[in-house]
Amino acid sequence: MPEYIADPGLAELGDRRITYAARAMPLLSHLARRFAAEQPFAGLAIAACLHVTAETAVLARALRAGGASVSLAASNPLSTQDDVAAALASVDGMAVYARAGVDRRTYYEHIALALDEGPDLLIDDGGDLIQTLYTERASLTAHVKGGCEGTTTGVLRLRRMAAEGALAFPMIAASETPTTRLMENLRGTAQSVIDGLLRASGVLLAGKTVVVAGFGACGTGIAEAACGLGARVMVTEVDPVRALDAVLRGFRVLPLADAAPLGEVFITATGSAAVITAEHLDLMPDGAILANAGHFDVEIDVRGLADLAVAVHPDVRPHCDAYELADGRRLLLLAEGRVVNLVAAEGHPPEVMDLAFGIEALALAWLAGNAGKLAPEVHPVPPELDAEAAGMVLAALGAQIDTLTAPQREYLASWRLRS
Ligand SMILES: NC(=O)c1ccc[n+]([C@@H]2O[C@H](COP(=O)([O-])OP(=O)(O)OC[C@H]3O[C@@H](n4cnc5c(N)ncnc54)[C@H](O)[C@@H]3O)[C@@H](O)[C@H]2O)c1
Repeated sequence: MPEYIADPGLAELGDRRITYAARAMPLLSHLARRFAAEQPFAGLAIAACLHVTAETAVLARALRAGGASVSLAASNPLSTQDDVAAALASVDGMAVYARAGVDRRTYYEHIALALDEGPDLLIDDGGDLIQTLYTERASLTAHVKGGCEGTTTGVLRLRRMAAEGALAFPMIAASETPTTRLMENLRGTAQSVIDGLLRASGVLLAGKTVVVAGFGACGTGIAEAACGLGARVMVTEVDPVRALDAVLRGFRVLPLADAAPLGEVFITATGSAAVITAEHLDLMPDGAILANAGHFDVEIDVRGLADLAVAVHPDVRPHCDAYELADGRRLLLLAEGRVVNLVAAEGHPPEVMDLAFGIEALALAWLAGNAGKLAPEVHPVPPELDAEAAGMVLAALGAQIDTLTAPQREYLASWRLRS
């Protein structure tokens, strides 16, 4: 589908990048071999809406090895790697609808086109695939057996649909397994968000005051990573349990209105909307840096910032726009308020996506074999699949664990035995 990608001439470069990423993705490489033998997706069409990166391409190739025909649209217009899109379209002959930097209308058109292949299974990342299916391609819904959602924000949307009885097929919350939250949300997001922040701003974090909004899995990792680089980290929260966790880890917790005049770097990771508003922007010091790690670009009020500004100086560095306010202060917005690790850096490292996509691939194969038996609800990934993926990643990292002995199993299984 050359007309939907930027430049088929980039295919060779993209293929090299995919091969390089695949070398750091042992779980997916193993699954590709297993799927090739077992063909869990034989005759099935899979529509995927994912960041079009080299790691996603490794997943797409593994699904194809398992017998699926795959159509792929981008889950963020700014994160598409055009060379990867070209390789999947030209080398693999996949239906790819993704070009970096497309406008909002084209972005949703691309998602609808990926659905036009008539999918049996879905892989979504943030919920735009499901939303487009229900709003623009509703007639295709009956054909869908189920799917996987890969991020917290998308799972929240699915739960709202299920609560309203609007979900017509089972969806698996792949982002919620203990292993994914550990490796992707906590560690992968932390490293790549700091990477994006540093690439776009070039700032020295040591000695800076960093405000992290939201102390969930992502926010915790970001706060700890910034702290590790010498920043003074403050946390804002709306959940007392998460706030207590932040306090017990040594972070100062305070309302955002109080943190706004103190912070020098602000990072949102809430999955919510309108977190940093014009009221907070008005209180921030000159040179404050604003970055978002949440899935959608709704956490920082970019329109409010534009309204406050008397001038905007775009690209003072790549992915860094300076907003000049009437009193002479400049606020620096990274990646237009979109997800900073994917826009200003390269997203998660392949090792992290290996685990996250490996769990999605295992869950999807499990779903393909069980779809008719599952209610149209949001389901957890079966814990044994999560443990299997964790075991494979451990082995790849060269770590081994002990096995419970028979007396230990007996002790743990009984309430009669005394110590
Ligand atoms: N950038 C990435 O690569 C990446 C990776 C995984 C998840 N995400 C996204 O990051 C976001 C957070 O994910 P998570 O897994 O940490 O979610 P989470 O639900 O574990 O944590 C979110 C936290 O934000 C808090 N919160 C909500 N509204 C708030 C507000 N107004 N002010 C302060 N705190 C608030 C919640 O109480 C919660 O503790 C989601 O949008 C998710 O999809 C991004």
